[in-house]
Amino acid sequence: MDIFLLLFGCVLTVLCIAFELYFIYAVIISKNCKYPPAFPSFGNMKKIALNEAEKFLSTADKPLKVIDLGCGTGGLLLPLAKKFPEHQFVGYDWDFFVCQILKWRARKLTNLAVVCDNFLKAKLQDYDLLLCFLDTKAANELSLKVSQEIKPDTMIISSAFELKDLTPSEVFDAKSYGMPLKVYVYKNSNNL
Ligand SMILES: C[S@@+](CC[C@H](N)C(=O)[O-])C[C@H]1O[C@@H](n2cnc3c(N)ncnc32)[C@H](O)[C@@H]1O
Repeated sequence: MDIFLLLFGCVLTVLCIAFELYFIYAVIISKNCKYPPAFPSFGNMKKIALNEAEKFLSTADKPLKVIDLGCGTGGLLLPLAKKFPEHQFVGYDWDFFVCQILKWRARKLTNLAVVCDNFLKAKLQDYDLLLCFLDTKAANELSLKVSQEIKPDTMIISSAFELKDLTPSEVFDAKSYGMPLKVYVYKNSNNL
């Protein structure tokens, strides 16, 4: 019995140290928490974002390219890539560990690639659908890049934060667990 308690204590200690080390790493890569942490989409916000993406992807008459800017562990990308094998999916995230988790979760999928880098380096003109769930600072930086780079018919789905350089074509009330969240959808951004 004592040996099991000892083993349990050792495993718990290793897990706590690993979590602490990851926490320090996350603070460093998010430039002292100026950028959002790896936190998955949830609740109605996730349902609405997925539903809008599915509507767009299911009506396409050619293979499309989808990018999740700050993909985390693939809360949005994975279900979409599984459901739509005919389309190509790319996840960008600068967190090495969440990239490894997503790569492992997507190991059987041939239509999902993970790029472990700053999404501000992504060539957005290559994509038909952009997904993001960020915070005000990251969304503002992305907003300018998006407005300068995307193709005219690219659709954007931004969970929780507005892209201030674009005008949304639809805003969904996505109240989740008592939080007054919204999902912003941008279509035909060239006309804005
Ligand atoms: C709130 S999570 C969203 C996860 C996922 N998109 C979802 O909806 O479940 C935001 C992610 O953006 C990543 N991130 C923030 N700024 C980034 C940047 N400039 N380049 C790459 N990744 C970034 C963070 O590491 C984090 O994993």
